[in-house]
Amino acid sequence: MPFFSSRKTIFVDSDVLIIGGGFAGCGAAYESRYWGRELKIVVVEKANIERSGAVAHGLSAINCYMGMQWGENQPEDHVRYARGDLMGLVREDLVYDIARHVDATVHKFEEWGLPIMRDPNTGRYLREGKWQIMIHGESYKPIVAEAAAKSATRVYNRIMVTHLLMDKARPGRVAGAVGFSVRDGNFYVFRAKAVIVAAGGASHIYRPRAIGEGTGRTWYAPWSSASAYGLLIEAGAKMIQMENKIVLTRFKDGYGPVGAWFLLLKAHATNAYGENYEVSRFNEIKSLVGKYADIKPMPTCLRNHAMLEEIKAGKGPIYMHTQQVLDTKEKEEIGWEDFLDMTIGQAVVWASQNIDPKERASELTTSEPYVMGSHATCSGAWASGPDDCAPGDYQWGYNRMTTIEGLFGAGDTIGGSAHKFSSGSFTEGRLAAKSAVKYIMDLKEATPQVDEAQITKLAEKIFKPLQTYKVGRNEIVAGTVSPSYLLPLQGLQRLEKIMDEYVGGYTTFYVTNEHLLNRGLELLAMLREDLDYVGAEDLHQLQRAWELNHRVLTAEAVARHTLFRQETRWPGYYYRADHPTLDDADWHVFTASEYDAKADQWRMSKLPVHHVIE
Ligand code: FAD
Ligand code: ADX
Repeated sequence: MPFFSSRKTIFVDSDVLIIGGGFAGCGAAYESRYWGRELKIVVVEKANIERSGAVAHGLSAINCYMGMQWGENQPEDHVRYARGDLMGLVREDLVYDIARHVDATVHKFEEWGLPIMRDPNTGRYLREGKWQIMIHGESYKPIVAEAAAKSATRVYNRIMVTHLLMDKARPGRVAGAVGFSVRDGNFYVFRAKAVIVAAGGASHIYRPRAIGEGTGRTWYAPWSSASAYGLLIEAGAKMIQMENKIVLTRFKDGYGPVGAWFLLLKAHATNAYGENYEVSRFNEIKSLVGKYADIKPMPTCLRNHAMLEEIKAGKGPIYMHTQQVLDTKEKEEIGWEDFLDMTIGQAVVWASQNIDPKERASELTTSEPYVMGSHATCSGAWASGPDDCAPGDYQWGYNRMTTIEGLFGAGDTIGGSAHKFSSGSFTEGRLAAKSAVKYIMDLKEATPQVDEAQITKLAEKIFKPLQTYKVGRNEIVAGTVSPSYLLPLQGLQRLEKIMDEYVGGYTTFYVTNEHLLNRGLELLAMLREDLDYVGAEDLHQLQRAWELNHRVLTAEAVARHTLFRQETRWPGYYYRADHPTLDDADWHVFTASEYDAKADQWRMSKLPVHHVIE
């Protein structure tokens, strides 16, 4: 094993190990220090926490803020909102738990230097919408990361975590994680008493609309590579709602978000003939989903659905009428800043295509699907809820602990609680950390034992793509097609094509059925076999290889959950053509899966949806 034996192995022991220093990870680091003054708190991040994760480029709004100090909203209202938007299915205990604490998080952000816009008339935060507030957020991530860096004992940047480790003595308990440095190629073994996974959601599971050199342009960050799910699935954690992938209405080509336009600037969208399609299609939507069509605001998936039907009927392009609302200098500034703070690519599209948003409308379209737990969607791990408000069967230990002992999650990692966004993800990181510290204190045990033989085996596996490439490269003189390996990019493109064509991507208008899904699963199984032959030219490509592994495992979970749920619960996110209607009698439930890596078997089940808020 030349590629491993020539590398240094570095052991790092900690009390709390946080994997991923994005929003949830930063919240976890901050709160771990608050409750565990003497603890060793380690953050491990594949990029650099100063500018990592989905907020790397900044944001223009905080999408989850109650405003309780001004009596604007109560946590119960937010539960009703999230439940309605997700067509009835959320973990109400988890949503409530975030909602009751999220304001305190936002106040911390302001204290740390985040400029939050104020309404000059009321002095309150400037509302974008009922739940959202506007920020000058280009530096949102560095501001929040500084607090995390000051809290952690040490932040290890540029280390890609590939696998979780289990306790040698107690196999159901987590013991740490392994990964490698993308800079110097050293192998890292992290041993910890409690682990919090906060490794973000997943883009590039599905073929993106962007092509060629622009392929990296997606709405969710291209570096959101499904580790939050891949790590947990492989370890056997119970996952829920993995079929609940999200499709977003976005400004075409730049993927610019629409919230500030619809909610703050009060722009409206029409088809090419000027018709408001959400109004004209209401009765049709009602016949499809019944009472769910009456929810206000119209659930995100149904808004997508109305738009997709217009496009299919040949009434595109769909237009956002920016030109009708940018009637003052202030509004024009807000419009541009919305993108310059958060999605610069959209401002570049305007500049490069000669679009002055105050002169002419911009096209909208739907994105490819993403897998996330923090937006208007809730894929992720099944977690124990808070002890004061979770129903009995939603509670088996510490708040936000997954079904693996000592393994916690937050942000995109945790399933069932939609609409957390940046502030809610940070808040959930805090909640997970508080209970992880309590777990450590209660346990009073030494660091779990890791299995040396398992670690050596993992090291060989992790570095194998470098060797595969080095040997196989000799068989070709030019080009990238080799008889003995596939490159990470080739594997990624194959994955995206399978998911797009068989598991409801944009080229099929998000439609799938049992036959397509079964064929997709066959092709995914072949892709998984081929992952043993990925070749990596350098450490950068080695990271791509492991990101691909996490994406493929996550994709399989998505396909299996989509097959299991025999209904179309979220038209506009995806359609089961063989079960085209919403079916509350049989499917007002969470779908769950557990993967047994040794046997390579998946176990699917239903879990009850309890309504704890009226
Ligand atoms: P992230 O913040 O993405 O953090 C995950 C971290 O894990 C990253 O730092 C990543 O590098 C690291 N990581 C991943 N894999 C590994 C691995 N294997 N090993 C080590 N580290 C790893 N929210 C709002 O509140 N308001 C908005 O206006 C808003 N707009 C958005 C606009 C865009 C364009 C995007 C992309 C997101 C937006 N969001 C918004 C959503 C918000 O960014 C997410 O909800 C939030 O970042 C989720 O937090 P997280 O910690 O789960 O994931
Ligand atoms: S963002 O995460 O990239 O900012 P987006 O701009 O779509 O996403 O949404 C921002 C916020 O506005 C989210 O809370 C979203 O649910 C909400 N939102 C977007 N469009 C609408 C709409 N037409 N009606 C109600 N809420 C909306």
